[in-house]
Amino acid sequence: MITLLVPAAGIGKRMGKEVPKQFLFLKDKPLFVHTLSIFEKHPLVNSIVIATREEYIPFVEKELLKAGIKKVVSVVKGGETRQDSVYQALKHAPSSTEIFLVHDAVRPFVSFSLIERVIQGVKKHGSAIPALPVRDTMVRAKEGKIYKKLERENAFLVQTPQGFRAEILRECLEKAQKDGLLFTDEGTLLLHYQKEVHIVEGEPMNLKITYPQDFLLAEHLIECKIVEFQKEKCLWK
Ligand code: C5P
Repeated sequence: MITLLVPAAGIGKRMGKEVPKQFLFLKDKPLFVHTLSIFEKHPLVNSIVIATREEYIPFVEKELLKAGIKKVVSVVKGGETRQDSVYQALKHAPSSTEIFLVHDAVRPFVSFSLIERVIQGVKKHGSAIPALPVRDTMVRAKEGKIYKKLERENAFLVQTPQGFRAEILRECLEKAQKDGLLFTDEGTLLLHYQKEVHIVEGEPMNLKITYPQDFLLAEHLIECKIVEFQKEKCLWK
């Protein structure tokens, strides 16, 4: 069984809106519903657990019902950090889960083929995360001035969905929670505990909606036929 864990308990500070970004309406549906609809249709994903802010649980449940999303087995209270939220979701996942996928609620443009690549990667290697090589020059900057050049060679930008054999993710998350260590994704969490993490090719379109400009772009992309096509493209049909 493949279970998707969806952290959706952020407050969206960088978006600067009162309503967290995952609940903002994009066309006719909240952002998180666009994201979940893709996994709902994906034939290899069996169940979904969402971690969200307690006060939004009734809203999430109502919108899932409206959208006809049936794979969600639990909507649980998330935590103070993304990692806490993933951990809470994992604790409520079906015990027969063999593979976990973790996907940010705020990446609504993930494609069927990327989900497949990640799953195949997990089956082959035990772990798979999507990543794209960095194209631009990288620097560190503070107060509007750059102060350090960063090495671009072998640098990648990491996305979700990230996939893992269930026992590996469970073991590492439990350790990190116990050790009081925080990671911004599961790939670097596993790396810390000396597990091998394989990469598969990510997608430039798999945007993480973070800033107001991203949301404006998403409003245009959601209308775009090519995005619809990419989302629905299924390699097994
Ligand atoms: O904050 P960031 O952009 O890294 O959030 C990525 C994902 O993690 C979002 O879907 C957000 O809702 C989620 N998150 C969460 N719990 C938190 C913080 C973020 O589920 N405490």
